[in-house]
Amino acid sequence: MAMVMTKGRNCVGLDIGSSGVKMTVLKSTKGGLRLEAFDHAKLPPETIVDGALMNSTAVADAVNTMLGRNKIKQKYCALSVSGNTVIVKKIRLPLMTQEELEESIQWEAEQHIPFDIQDVFIGFEVVAPKTEQGQMDVALVAAKKEMINDYVAVCHDVGLEPLVVDVDAFAIQNMYEVNYGYHRGETVVLLDVGNTVVTMNVVTDGVTMFTRDLSLGGSDITEEIQRQLNITYQEAELYKMGGGPGMASDEVLPQEVESIIQDKAEDMAHEIQRSLDFYAATAAEEEIDKIAVTGGTAAIPSLVRTIERISGVPTEVINPFRKIDYDERQFPPERIQNWSPIAGISVGLALRRTNER
Ligand SMILES: Nc1ncnc2c1ncn2[C@@H]1O[C@H](COP(=O)(O)OP(=O)(O)OP(=O)(O)O)[C@@H](O)[C@H]1O
Ligand SMILES: [Mg+2]
Repeated sequence: MAMVMTKGRNCVGLDIGSSGVKMTVLKSTKGGLRLEAFDHAKLPPETIVDGALMNSTAVADAVNTMLGRNKIKQKYCALSVSGNTVIVKKIRLPLMTQEELEESIQWEAEQHIPFDIQDVFIGFEVVAPKTEQGQMDVALVAAKKEMINDYVAVCHDVGLEPLVVDVDAFAIQNMYEVNYGYHRGETVVLLDVGNTVVTMNVVTDGVTMFTRDLSLGGSDITEEIQRQLNITYQEAELYKMGGGPGMASDEVLPQEVESIIQDKAEDMAHEIQRSLDFYAATAAEEEIDKIAVTGGTAAIPSLVRTIERISGVPTEVINPFRKIDYDERQFPPERIQNWSPIAGISVGLALRRTNER
């Protein structure tokens, strides 16, 4: 297939999560990637429930505000989805061309996807073009049309055109690749620990081996603080972030808060470990070399250390801006550092280009 070199640009990366919207704008230059904008805006509770959009106006307002205050003129954006209404399934097929694959994918999807095929959009990505047995591995993605259409409608409301609808797991994979690269023979577990979902993507040699979404995240910690201290969700959220309501910065957190966070971190790490065990039981002999964590809840150091202790695997927090240039006057390093945990997916989405295939 001939390569058509059209002038393209990077899509606006929009990560619409249950706690807030994150936006990254990148520019591809000769010297590499440059950060043009990053912004985030909180969403009211229950705006997104289990991946489904319950309050479109809240999301549209948040995106609109961010586009305005960052003077974003671009029209094209890239979105991602996650949760129970999205299924990613790896299947093995005989070697075939892209065209043949496009023809047969609908039939394949009917065999592998437990939804009514009329109700879903089907996408696919060749993850391993050639396995040893003359076959290929394809990641089949199915997402409920109803859900995707709601997200697309929100974009249209604010004058954006979604060119790409990705899944969180692949956006993280692209973000990690740009910043760290994949090394031969290396197996990395990518984890996005957000507010309500943990997305796991096990990657060997740059290829997805296993993905799974777990229904847990930072809101579990906030809810437990709320319950035990008998305070509001917002107050609990402040305590979780290291400062209680009306607390002076040198005051120490109530001992209780620390121990609730630690208890929940243990629970989450065990839950993650169960999925790693499941992966290990079903997969080949590949050992896990590293766990790399992103998502807002990765900002809790004790969680990261607990995952490391329970898994016995070196665990680190991903810096999504590691290989991205930015003007330090516009983006002071301490702001970049604060944004890092929540920015991962939106950076992965902002890598997508308007002139892709
Ligand atoms: N500094 C911090 N310390 C502790 N928790 C934090 C910190 N910053 C963010 N969080 C938590 O991270 C979560 C937000 O992260 P993120 O933006 O990745 O989630 P989301 O994309 O909105 O959620 P999801 O993908 O699960 O729908 C919230 O639960 C928030 O309380
Ligand atoms: Mg998220």
